Amino acid sequence: MNEISQARIIQQATEFVRCELENESSGHDWYHIYRVTQSAKTIAIEEGADLFVCELAALLHDIADAKLNVSEEVGLTRVNAWLDQHEVPTEASHHIMQIISTMSYKGGGKPPMATLEGMVVQDADRLDAIGAMGIARVFAFSGSKGRKFHDPSVDPRMNMSEEEYRNGEDTAINHFYEKLLKLKDLMNTNYGRKLALGRHQFMLDYLDRFYAEWDGKK
Ligand code: ADP
Ligand code: NI
Repeated sequence: MNEISQARIIQQATEFVRCELENESSGHDWYHIYRVTQSAKTIAIEEGADLFVCELAALLHDIADAKLNVSEEVGLTRVNAWLDQHEVPTEASHHIMQIISTMSYKGGGKPPMATLEGMVVQDADRLDAIGAMGIARVFAFSGSKGRKFHDPSVDPRMNMSEEEYRNGEDTAINHFYEKLLKLKDLMNTNYGRKLALGRHQFMLDYLDRFYAEWDGKK
């Protein structure tokens, strides 16, 4: 496939996804897709991955989400139909379906990504959960659930028992410790890891400052 056909498909996918996710408020809005796609391109270039597959998989990666469809299977069928209708070559289409279905796999113990392109797109998705964007998203998500952003009686920095911790309220700050601070060790690619380290440090600095300001120390 030539570059012009590829560019046309990317353009059509962008319009399709923007339209589908415009009013989405679960943390997978169009701008999440935009950022993941930008990061996927950056990492793909550094890692020598197939740019077309990475970009198209990043654009479509949340379309099959169960929150937007009757079920995940129905969502995946829709993505497949879209790829067929837009005449994406079979090999690329299979590859993209394989990436999206592995990424959205919700069963216990997610299987690792099988290809470099899959690793790139998963890294890009994880990057959007950390750093400045991750911080914005965690507070937006917590607020949408009506949760507090911090409960000082459940301070995750203290040596609490698992039970004490679990009985505490689910807050935005807790989510840093439950998930966000663990993501840097789950990165697949070298360049993804490099970007994750910068974002991780930014979250650590943020948390230091958060606790200092909480106690009026800064
Ligand atoms: P993804 O599908 O990208 O893996 P999720 O749907 O789990 O992510 O979450 C979307 C966004 O909401 C992420 O940025 C995540 O950090 C945030 N989020 C998910 N669960 C919680 C929670 N319990 N508290 C605060 N933020 C959360
Ligand atoms: Ni995503």
